[in-house]
Amino acid sequence: MSFRFDLVTLFPGLVADYSQYGVLSRALRDEIITLQSWNPRDFSDDRNLRVDDSSYGGGPGMVMKAEPIARTLQAVRDDSAGVRPVIYLSPQGRRVDHDLIKSAAAGEGLILLAGRYEGIDERLIEEQVDEEWSIGDFVVNGGELPALMIVEAVTRLLPGALGDAESAQQDSFSDGLLDYPHYTRPASYGQRAVPAVLMSGDHQKIARWRMQQALGRTWTRRPDLLAKRTLSVAEQQLLDEYIEEQRQKGSLDGHDGCN
Ligand SMILES: C[S@@+](CC[C@H](N)C(=O)[O-])C[C@H]1O[C@@H](n2cnc3c(N)ncnc32)[C@H](O)[C@@H]1O
Repeated sequence: MSFRFDLVTLFPGLVADYSQYGVLSRALRDEIITLQSWNPRDFSDDRNLRVDDSSYGGGPGMVMKAEPIARTLQAVRDDSAGVRPVIYLSPQGRRVDHDLIKSAAAGEGLILLAGRYEGIDERLIEEQVDEEWSIGDFVVNGGELPALMIVEAVTRLLPGALGDAESAQQDSFSDGLLDYPHYTRPASYGQRAVPAVLMSGDHQKIARWRMQQALGRTWTRRPDLLAKRTLSVAEQQLLDEYIEEQRQKGSLDGHDGCN
């Protein structure tokens, strides 16, 4: 069965355009996902199809009205059976991370609600929204880009969505570490050469080097991730070796990683 995304948005064209490319378009073609947009304007009872109004209490900016969105969500539910949470994309929500995406990908689908203007009437959120998700501590103009980020991140984890060459398993966060660095031709770029081990053809050595780089990068850049992950004895040895090498090169001055 396809993973079902329903996206409630005033700008369905943005969603349609973005989903014409790359992994998303292939996942749609192969019916790994379905992605349908629903426009609250189609459920407005205003003769000018307005879906926003000024804010009670005054102040700048408009607010999305509750009733058209409630009717839209009802139409989404009437269109399909199954249990899918309603997620409001909001800078005030829970910060999205790999674990949240992974647990979403294990479900049947998501109903994503994209706000505009100052946001949505709070009573609709209280009544209809299961969770609020944020893509970071900054504000964008609408929930469409955040919603599409969720769609893409979930889709990448669904079986068959990525070819082998694009496998998500080596990506950052998938096993609690950042990805190792990547190189391609030419072998020399200015004064910089590709690390010799990658040209050696020795697959065991290459795998060992990559794991060491992933551990080292995570230790350097995201010690918070490493603190949450238990290292095997072999991994700890690789990391110790990496730290020692960096110390000898003097690259750790001022670094207070978690070892
Ligand atoms: C201009 S924003 C409204 C911001 C709101 N007045 C506030 O300060 O919390 C309009 C819409 O963009 C979306 N949005 C903006 N920033 C977001 C973020 N960091 N994560 C998720 N959605 C966001 C939300 O759907 C929001 O309703």
